[in-house]
Amino acid sequence: MKKLNLRNLLMIIASGLMFIQCTTDPVIGPAGADGTNGIDGVDGTNGLDGTNGLDGADVAVCISCHSDNHRDAINDAYAMTKHATGTSWARGTSAGCAQCHNNEGFIDFQETGAVNPAGYAVSNGITCTGCHDMHRSFDFVNDGNDKALRTLDPVTLIVDGGYTFDAKNESDVLGKSNLCVNCHQPRTAGPDQTVAEFTVTSSHWGPHHGPQSTLLDGIQGIEFSSVGISAPGSAGHKSNMSCVACHMSTVDDGHSWSPADYASATCTKCHGVKTEVAGFATGMVELAGLLADVVGWEYQYEVDVDGKLVKDVDGNYIMILDGNGDPVKNSAVGVVHDGHPNNGSQGRGATFTSAQAGAGWNYLFLLEDKSNGVHNPIYAKALISQSIEALQ
Ligand code: HEC
Ligand code: HEC
Ligand code: HEC
Ligand code: HEC
Ligand code: HEC
Ligand code: HEC
Repeated sequence: MKKLNLRNLLMIIASGLMFIQCTTDPVIGPAGADGTNGIDGVDGTNGLDGTNGLDGADVAVCISCHSDNHRDAINDAYAMTKHATGTSWARGTSAGCAQCHNNEGFIDFQETGAVNPAGYAVSNGITCTGCHDMHRSFDFVNDGNDKALRTLDPVTLIVDGGYTFDAKNESDVLGKSNLCVNCHQPRTAGPDQTVAEFTVTSSHWGPHHGPQSTLLDGIQGIEFSSVGISAPGSAGHKSNMSCVACHMSTVDDGHSWSPADYASATCTKCHGVKTEVAGFATGMVELAGLLADVVGWEYQYEVDVDGKLVKDVDGNYIMILDGNGDPVKNSAVGVVHDGHPNNGSQGRGATFTSAQAGAGWNYLFLLEDKSNGVHNPIYAKALISQSIEALQ
């Protein structure tokens, strides 16, 4: 779509209106060259009195939202948030991270399905132009106001191409929250439970830092049983609430992204003031304790005098062998320590049963979600209790 700014658009409407008035003028011109075509009206605009145009929308409505006055609070709030100031945006120059950690990368990915393979020169947090683009319709009365969001489309998950997350419901009729899901989703899936063991090879193992949408939908946890697990997308906070409804209802038009006050009408329309997910904090402490004690194993590798891993002529790390020529295995204690995954004392992989690793995965998932279980209280509690059981 051709990019317009508000001032140009209003001028086009104004010239469209003049044209309509000219052609209804009864004076008949002499035969000859046709007059220059007028600029088409927007969607066959039928407004006449100069305040109505654009499918009947009142131009005063446009101006009220587009005024600096209305935007000052939004600009101020945005400038204070992690979307503007967070340190992770520095990672967005590399192509592997730019889709979610760079404004241009996000725009490219939304428009073309790919980022620049060479990465981006400038690191840039998500800005107004990342999340906003152009209105799909000016008929706000019938179509709703999309606030010119860049995307409203349901999102196919990175970790499961067969699963599409759609935020649309009574709290978010247009699906504005789908915008958020593009970034706030996991990057890797949990350990395969159909094999016996799982090796943690990265100190960044886990779903990555933004698995909020999958917790909301009640998916992507390692489910050891069906107890407490309901159909995907059916939880109270997913079926009737949404990212935007909970995080963008504040007076600065939501651009602090702070969740609504627990005592506000946004939350109390369904239940009394609930300040926490009962049992979440104690459950997480108990689970963390068990995870830190799990004993797995790791191979031992050759190191130099400084303790650095040594490579052979082919560039491979050298496993230490015992008298029988078998690799030496040492014990590796803890799937997760202090909120960090254990990839072994030499960083070459600590191996646990898939169930133990699954319990560790669930812990990291709930930790990285950062809502203390609020996004999906029942699923969160089920994952904690099932994980505790799996470790005992
Ligand atoms: C409730 C708020 C709201 C209303 C009402 C609204 N807009 Fe917008 N509009 C936005 C936002 C947010 C953007 C994203 C770009 C930005 O921040 O300016 C935008 C973008 C645009 C753009 C493209 C980007 C630009 O600013 O140049 C045009 C053109 C536009 N609006 C025209 C209109 C017109 C015409 C109306 C009235 C029929 C209207 N808008 C009503 C919020 C609104
Ligand atoms: C382009 C990707 C992207 C999009 C789109 C996006 N976010 Fe974020 N969001 C991030 C990143 C990255 C951070 C963390 C930045 C950091 O700390 O470095 C973040 C941080 C946050 C935070 C923590 C805020 C704070 O200041 O502490 C909240 C809450 C949040 N996002 C909610 C949302 C919601 C709601 C939406 C949709 C309206 C959304 N995000 C859209 C990437 C995104
Ligand atoms: C699918 C989107 C996505 C991709 C791809 C992605 N991230 Fe993130 N990342 C996020 C979101 C969302 C957050 C913020 C979550 C929050 O604050 O809750 C985040 C947060 C972070 C943080 C901040 C952690 C913290 O707790 O302060 C770092 C560092 C980070 N990402 C690094 C990377 C790196 C490096 C890459 C590429 C290898 C990458 N990310 C790829 C979505 C993504
Ligand atoms: C992370 C994504 C994101 C970023 C960044 C962002 N917005 Fe928004 N903005 C939204 C969403 C989502 C809505 C719709 C909220 C709703 O309808 O409840 C919105 C709504 C708006 C509105 C309409 C408010 C109203 O009265 O309904 C304006 C104006 C606006 N944004 C301007 C801005 C400006 C200016 C910036 C940059 C300083 C900005 N936005 C940055 C996501 C974003
Ligand atoms: C039912 C309301 C609700 C819904 C729906 C919801 N959130 Fe939240 N979210 C919260 C609350 C409340 C917290 C804070 C919990 C706490 O601090 O204990 C939170 C926390 C967060 C955080 C961590 C903020 C921080 O300070 O680090 C992020 C990021 C976030 N939500 C993003 C999202 C995204 C993205 C969506 C949609 C996929 C979403 N939320 C849907 C209520 C909600
Ligand atoms: C549309 C209805 C609805 C709204 C609005 C809503 N909730 Fe809930 N909430 C529920 C339901 C239903 C449950 C029960 C758990 C479930 O079904 O997932 C629940 C459970 C909770 C719990 C768990 C309590 C416990 O004892 O474990 C907390 C905390 C909570 N909500 C906080 C919030 C907050 C904070 C908001 C506003 C940001 C909010 N809720 C808005 C429907 C809602």
